[in-house]
Amino acid sequence: MRARVLSGMRPTGALHLGHYHGALKNWVRLQHEYDSFFFVADWHALTTHYQDRDVIERNVYDMVIDWIAAGLDPDLCTIFIQSRLPEHAELFTLLAMGTPLGWLERVPTYKGLAQELPERDLATYGFLGYPLLQAADILIYKAAFVPVGEDQAAHVELTREVARRFNHLYGRDGRAVLHEPQALHTEVTRLPGLDGRKMSKSYGNAIEMREEPAQVEAKIRKMPTDPQRVRRSDAGDPARCTVWQFHKVYSDAATQQWATTGCTTAGIGCLDCKQPVIDAILKEQQPWRERAEQYLANPKQVHWIVEMGTERARTVARQTMKDVRDVMGLAY
Ligand code: TRP
Ligand code: SF4
Repeated sequence: MRARVLSGMRPTGALHLGHYHGALKNWVRLQHEYDSFFFVADWHALTTHYQDRDVIERNVYDMVIDWIAAGLDPDLCTIFIQSRLPEHAELFTLLAMGTPLGWLERVPTYKGLAQELPERDLATYGFLGYPLLQAADILIYKAAFVPVGEDQAAHVELTREVARRFNHLYGRDGRAVLHEPQALHTEVTRLPGLDGRKMSKSYGNAIEMREEPAQVEAKIRKMPTDPQRVRRSDAGDPARCTVWQFHKVYSDAATQQWATTGCTTAGIGCLDCKQPVIDAILKEQQPWRERAEQYLANPKQVHWIVEMGTERARTVARQTMKDVRDVMGLAY
């Protein structure tokens, strides 16, 4: 049997190129090698967006369409929605009983994310529990690997500690009920936002996966370049330019060479330099748009895919919960 991989994404907005290069592209690759489970973490979205029901509702199926458009194949992987599986909540509750508060307060994202989102009141029980809910997501499927970015490494580490503690408290005859997962850090491509900061919808520096071609072109043409290259005749330095970061993701060696030479000798203008990036992004997006179209025209098909995936996930989650209740002495 193939080892299981599990990952989730929060449905807080349309997916952008940063999501694609940082995570989704990797998922598409993994589905061929692993028994892959990918889910919409709508409860996790609620931990920060509990006041925005419309945002989440609008984005759940849209995100699944983005996933499939990018190449996730429902015949190869299992796609589902967290909230359709109350078993996650049950495991979360049971794990919560024995999880020291300090473990959660110490997770770096707890203070970090709260600082990043100062407009939201995150002094909530749900937000503190975020990583423990994530641990339940992972442990309920006995996932071997969790592909996540480095910002999530602490959550996988906490998941391992929680599993160890559970097995220590309730494991009998050395039998481990919960499996310690490993973070899967494959090389990810980091694509910054248009302004050089992390690509994020809230910074207004993102290109959505299925953004209109004309808009993509306009955004890149407006992108800031090396601030010291004021006039066309000034030589530039790609190291100071976000467009160069895009070349590193989108251009082959010859084009990169052309851009570097052209920039440092003032042989090309910045708009010349941007053109191959525009072309490459539009080319990348084209099949996404085409694949998405048929699902947008037929939402029932997406619902059906999620339905199938949810039932597949439920079979696994139910079995784990049966084992968990057994060892905890809850099988009355
Ligand atoms: N916290 C993850 C993120 O923000 C989403 C997530 C929720 C997740 N549950 C998970 C990722 C379980 C991996 C495994 O990206
Ligand atoms: Fe940036 Fe290219 Fe302009 Fe150089 S030529 S500053 S790399 S956009």
